[in-house]
Amino acid sequence: MSSTIAVIGSTGKTGRRVADLLDERGHAVRRLARGTSPAFDWQHPEGWPQALQGVERLYAAFVPDLAVAGSDVAIARLIEVARDAGVRRIVLLSGRREAGALRCEDLLLASGIPATVVRSSWFTQNFTEGMLRDAASSGVLALPAGEVREPFIDVDDLAAVAVEALTGEGHEGRVFEVTGPQSLSFAEIASLLSEINGREVVYLPVTFDEFHAAVAAEEGPEVATMLTELCREVLDGRNEPTTTGVYEVLGRPARDVRTVLTEAAAVGARA
Ligand SMILES: NC(=O)c1ccc[n+]([C@@H]2O[C@H](COP(=O)([O-])OP(=O)(O)OC[C@H]3O[C@@H](n4cnc5c(N)ncnc54)[C@H](OP(=O)(O)O)[C@@H]3O)[C@@H](O)[C@H]2O)c1
Repeated sequence: MSSTIAVIGSTGKTGRRVADLLDERGHAVRRLARGTSPAFDWQHPEGWPQALQGVERLYAAFVPDLAVAGSDVAIARLIEVARDAGVRRIVLLSGRREAGALRCEDLLLASGIPATVVRSSWFTQNFTEGMLRDAASSGVLALPAGEVREPFIDVDDLAAVAVEALTGEGHEGRVFEVTGPQSLSFAEIASLLSEINGREVVYLPVTFDEFHAAVAAEEGPEVATMLTELCREVLDGRNEPTTTGVYEVLGRPARDVRTVLTEAAAVGARA
């Protein structure tokens, strides 16, 4: 019996870390993304059976986001391909309190395949290696977030939780809701980035329409609409509370934003 663990999104923020941790612990890992061999492309389901052939466990980070229309169709199809391939455990990365994400979580948890959901808050690494990196380095974080606070999580913590869900026992049917240890406003994050990087970053609260126009100019209208709708749905305070998910799974506290940003700055300075 194969014990290969496949990681979908293996070149991304979470998948790379999940695959690296599995490698370090001696597991057989199949890294999957559009440029791997075999490849995995969410837009081309005809390639999924080959990508999952001989796989026993699976980590899936869906792009662009489980909140978008049609994500449930893709996840339902992935479950069927995984079932046919003999996959015996699936760990799905999800976002907090998004209607589309909840539909996908429910599909997975009702699939009959042993499964665990890792439901995460915003990543601290969005500011250092993700969609807000350029904004952070330009000095202006323009977001339709008002005064809302977010318990930003370290993606290394998230990856460690996902690896435990993939390789530990007794996690089937569970939803691990994970956050960082404290909720910060975007103004507070901007001030931390300024202090740590020695370059001023300001938070500029904008309207949803202003945000849409700015993203559309850079990324096109489709991405702008997706991100604006996502922000409209979740940036209303519903996700402000922290959870103890990281502690419950790993037996240690989640790492705080200052520590994570300081480490990232040190690595950036050495690079
Ligand atoms: N950012 C946050 O704060 C946050 C919070 C909670 C949940 N999430 C969830 O995190 C997920 C994204 O995970 P991530 O941040 O680890 O990834 P990421 O850093 O955004 O990278 C995307 C990954 O997906 C791959 N990819 C891109 N387009 C693809 C396609 N059409 N088919 C197959 N693979 C594709 C990329 O590889 P290639 O380009 O090499 O193919 C890469 O490995 C989303 O579902 C998002 O909702 C994010």
